[in-house]
Amino acid sequence: MNTKKRAEDFVLVHKEILSSNFTRLDLLSSTELPLIEAGQFVQVQIPSSLYGWLRIPISIHDVRAKERILSLLVQKVGDGSIQLSSCPENSKINLIYPLGKGFTMPNLELASLDTSILLVGGGCGIAPLLYLAKNLKENGIKTSVLLGARSRDQLICQETLSSYASLYPCTEDGSVGFKGLVTEHPLWKMESFSHIYTCGPTPMMKAVAALSVKMGSKHCQVSLENTMACGLGACLCCVTPSAQGHNLCVCTDGPVFDASVLGW
Ligand code: FES
Repeated sequence: MNTKKRAEDFVLVHKEILSSNFTRLDLLSSTELPLIEAGQFVQVQIPSSLYGWLRIPISIHDVRAKERILSLLVQKVGDGSIQLSSCPENSKINLIYPLGKGFTMPNLELASLDTSILLVGGGCGIAPLLYLAKNLKENGIKTSVLLGARSRDQLICQETLSSYASLYPCTEDGSVGFKGLVTEHPLWKMESFSHIYTCGPTPMMKAVAALSVKMGSKHCQVSLENTMACGLGACLCCVTPSAQGHNLCVCTDGPVFDASVLGW
């Protein structure tokens, strides 16, 4: 299977408004999709005359390889994402993909009964974790998900995630599930996890990484959402410091990193 990055026109075949802020776009490729890792991203060209030159980075939310469908979860945070969310079905959308390094799966040959996985997502951070949860389920690995949001209307993807993993929703206002932050959920005291994967706001990921150390989890991977421009390692606007003090390029060295290599 071809894994090189490529630029391609997709067709927007289905659009689903998940909340006031989030829209899911299902995009059809005219050819076989390359191998795509959970955690990789695309650079999307915004299809309008005003933003025609602009590409924005978006995590790959789901892949249905047999149907040649790649899905994106778009959060309305600026002009480009608002424009993208409002594209009508049958629009052509150009992607450069698959970009970056995704999550490293547990070694499936060594996976044993004590391999237990926790995914922790906050807000739009659930975008790459859904495809990861699907891959883990397809490999028979037991997975739990802590999914956090401010309130009910911002808590998305619950139904789909529930079909792949044990889901523990958390809301700050208590409107769904546990009232509080994902890092305050009693699951942290009830179970131990061999692998922890997280994506969301940086303070949340730092707290998750600290908790993983405290509970002795050997693997904690975080997916950074730094500002990007080229997405190809050329402009260096996305760099983040490593634990040794040198710069890591989030778009090519990441966006997924083992938490222990980061200098945060
Ligand atoms: Fe340009 Fe990473 S976005 S180097």
